[in-house]
Amino acid sequence: MAIIGRNTKKEYLQHIENSFTLTIAEMKNIVKDFHSEMRRGLAGLKSSLAMIPTYVDKPTGDEKGEYIALDLGGTNFRVLELKLKGKGKLSPPRVRKYVLDKRHISGKGEELFGYIAQRIKAFLRGEKARQDDVLKLGFTFSFPVEQTGIASGELLGWTKGFSARGVVGKDVVMLLNSALAKNGLGNIKVAVLANDTVGTMACLGYEDQDCDVGVILGTGTNACYLEKLSVIPKWNGPNTRTGHMIINIEWGNFNKLRRLDYDIALDKASENPGRQILEKMISGMYLGEVARIVLNGFISKGLLFDGLRSPIFNKRGHFKTEYMSRIEADCSKNLSEVIRFLKESGIRNSTFEDRCLIKRVCELVSNRAARASAAAMAAVITKIDPALSKTHTVAIDGSVYEKHPGFSKNIRTGLEELLDKKASKIKISMAKDGSGKGAAIIAAVA
Ligand code: BGC
Repeated sequence: MAIIGRNTKKEYLQHIENSFTLTIAEMKNIVKDFHSEMRRGLAGLKSSLAMIPTYVDKPTGDEKGEYIALDLGGTNFRVLELKLKGKGKLSPPRVRKYVLDKRHISGKGEELFGYIAQRIKAFLRGEKARQDDVLKLGFTFSFPVEQTGIASGELLGWTKGFSARGVVGKDVVMLLNSALAKNGLGNIKVAVLANDTVGTMACLGYEDQDCDVGVILGTGTNACYLEKLSVIPKWNGPNTRTGHMIINIEWGNFNKLRRLDYDIALDKASENPGRQILEKMISGMYLGEVARIVLNGFISKGLLFDGLRSPIFNKRGHFKTEYMSRIEADCSKNLSEVIRFLKESGIRNSTFEDRCLIKRVCELVSNRAARASAAAMAAVITKIDPALSKTHTVAIDGSVYEKHPGFSKNIRTGLEELLDKKASKIKISMAKDGSGKGAAIIAAVA
């Protein structure tokens, strides 16, 4: 049966425009459903939001001392050494970045942790004396972990394409400790295990006492916030200094969303079907793939490049989110950067109409992502302060927020549509590479 009204390019694009547009009413619904999932998660009921107590209170800014930090959350990991000087001041950290390859990401967990321990050893080798001291380490581990203490927790499941064997269900600090011991680094004591959102929030919170939310919008996505212990029914541990605790929401798994066929196709083909539904709509690991699936639909209908197939749009994972950024940033009259990109990708001939269509689809996909992020952010802040009676600083980091053209502006517009003038109470501040530094700060809080 022919699909009435979707046969011409214009009609089909209109259909895509309508499908990808998140209306204000829909954003309001996201906020409502987010609140209800947050409450269920805090009560220990079934919810797509894990709402994990992190055992961490807000930093005071007075923390002092020397720490090392390990920041693991993607294909790169970093080792840092830094000094907290108190009064919210840090000395410039010594940092080294290392790359993980496929063998570490999808091989044996032991190999992954063994490699990390070796690199930490190499990092410290520069400083002979430090090899015998007791060194306190803050471990930022950017995957969903059910924490069992400030420095212990079990991996609930890998995300972002990781699949190293023998780690899910295990205490990741124990795995790191045993790799450190095997490498003669028994003098390192893991003082804290923290999610990257928590590190990011702690890093900014060290100098800005209004900071009560941390967000990552990068390869993966997530947020944390400061919650009152009295509204966390599932918490039965001790009290904290301020009666509050940072909660790792694991918002990437939020699933009360209107999904399109494209989202469903992406999810089915992913390494973790049925999980990380919000993450699959808004984060850098997936945005390019959503756009690719849509554009491939145009090609197979003969509505783009005269139906000519090419791997960049035809093969899963080939069209990266950074290509979308490049395409959307092209404001030249002829879309000449898009021409260049297409040529590099083996597509020699494109019409101006083809290029406009590609750019428009990329914009629709990223705009939906920014508006869904705004709704999730608004939900977290109004959970803390429904009337928005005070200023809230959101510490944010991640390539999508930082680099994708228009993303931060579209989030701001979304917040204003949802919260009107009160959106001005929300200050969003970049905490570039804050997750590792933050882990050291938390180690000091601990
Ligand atoms: C993980 C989170 C993490 C986020 C950002 C997600 O895939 O589940 O724990 O905070 O990525 O790195």
